[in-house]
Amino acid sequence: MLSDRMRKAINDQINAELYSSYLYAAMSMYLESADMSGAAAWMKAQAREELVHAGKFMDYVNERGGRVVLKAIEEPPSEWDSVLDVFQTALGHEEKVSSMINGLVTLAREEKDHMTDNFLQWFVAEQVEEEASAAEVVRKLKLAGSSGGGMFMIDNELGRRGTDPATESGE
Ligand code: FEO
Repeated sequence: MLSDRMRKAINDQINAELYSSYLYAAMSMYLESADMSGAAAWMKAQAREELVHAGKFMDYVNERGGRVVLKAIEEPPSEWDSVLDVFQTALGHEEKVSSMINGLVTLAREEKDHMTDNFLQWFVAEQVEEEASAAEVVRKLKLAGSSGGGMFMIDNELGRRGTDPATESGE
């Protein structure tokens, strides 16, 4: 059985994962409006992945005999300064999520809840990938700078995510 503290902390994490999905969907809509359809598809795939993350936490709480309580999801922003700003914001958001996952691990260890600790290790590894993939796009966008040709190439490359299993990160 999960402790009340652990269950509440995981419920908060479920809300954060759902917010992540909402945020990336909003980013995808912004990118569509900026004629970056490949980057928009990349973000849409990311939004779907966040729903998978939320679902994993929900399943885990149920498996441990806990009760998931869904809360309101905060409204995400709808405007960004540039495509680079979108991906920098996404990277910053992933860093925040990583620190939340680390906090859950710390709590699980304080409570000697080895089952939850073990469950969370998938997310610890996933966050390495999440941060790395957003950081890679940020690096490429910085390299492209104001070059229309460079942006065109990056957009094409990002658009392959979701169509090519090798470029789809996580689950
Ligand atoms: Fe669910 Fe992108 O962390």
